[in-house]
Amino acid sequence: PRDLRQLAEQTGVKIGSAVDIAALRAESDYRRVLNRQFNHVTAENAMKWESVEPQRGVFTWDDADTLVENARRNRQQVRGHTLVWHNQLPAWLTAGVEDGSIGATELRQILRDHITTQVRRYKGKIRAWDVVNEVVEEDGTMRQSIWLKHLGSGYIADAFRWAHRADPRAKLFINDYNLEWNAPKIETTLSLVKELQAQGVPIHGVGFQGHLGIQYDYPGDWANVMRRFADLGLEVAITELDVRMELPVTPEKLATQATYYSRAMTDCLSVRACRELTVWGFTDRHSWVPGWFDGEGAACLLDENLAPKPAYQALLTVK
Ligand code: XIL
Repeated sequence: PRDLRQLAEQTGVKIGSAVDIAALRAESDYRRVLNRQFNHVTAENAMKWESVEPQRGVFTWDDADTLVENARRNRQQVRGHTLVWHNQLPAWLTAGVEDGSIGATELRQILRDHITTQVRRYKGKIRAWDVVNEVVEEDGTMRQSIWLKHLGSGYIADAFRWAHRADPRAKLFINDYNLEWNAPKIETTLSLVKELQAQGVPIHGVGFQGHLGIQYDYPGDWANVMRRFADLGLEVAITELDVRMELPVTPEKLATQATYYSRAMTDCLSVRACRELTVWGFTDRHSWVPGWFDGEGAACLLDENLAPKPAYQALLTVK
């Protein structure tokens, strides 16, 4: 293949990237590469609750609309990210829950309205929604978010049902990190999916974020884990792949990084149910890694100047 779009066409695995909307607007080289290389996109932040409803009842859809419209013009499918999460919630919501002015009954109504409004707005334009994000802890217990604390464990089933009602054709996903290798998290997530299915809840896929680092072993069991979810009838996606390293960059580190990217693609290709591989940003110019992991960076396929790194070349030669 000559580029990632061609790789996607030849393999049938959609290749996506997270998108920084400010960069999409302001940088024509960023825009050109995104639209040439990728046939799937996820908003890095623009569809999160704090972005779309910063004040109660005040909706700011501009960035999310821009992403969806750019995707339509460039024949890219869209992953909606994300409806229910414990992070990047609007301050009015967390403050209201904290000071008791928003009680459980109202909170449930607020969540239902949020999901219904957002999913309806993009009905028919979002291939897959990350309905719930990071709901399981590393030790396999359910995360004690405001949702679990105030609404009880039924909030997950409710979220999927509300999303399904608002766009019956969108594929509804549960999404998490470290699900590539962390046994307690894997087992709990599998049980959760089975429980939801037993209750007739519309859940269609599992997303593996795939935030990897070369200082850790590659998660060698990943394909098997994917298969265990696929065996439940779920679609599988790699939703946020990046491979960080401790700085400075060296040729050796870039070579190791390349093997991690190509192994992730190989793992996805080895599981029929794995239909999408999305990277969490395609250029080191715009990556969350330096801001979140001290002393680390260079996690993407292209460098700051949009020059392809060894990882990009390695992806193109995966069979
Ligand atoms: C990150 C974004 O990349 C940052 O820009 C933002 O400041 C914080 O969130 N898991 C997820 C993503 O599901 O939404 C997160 O994105 C990265 C970890």
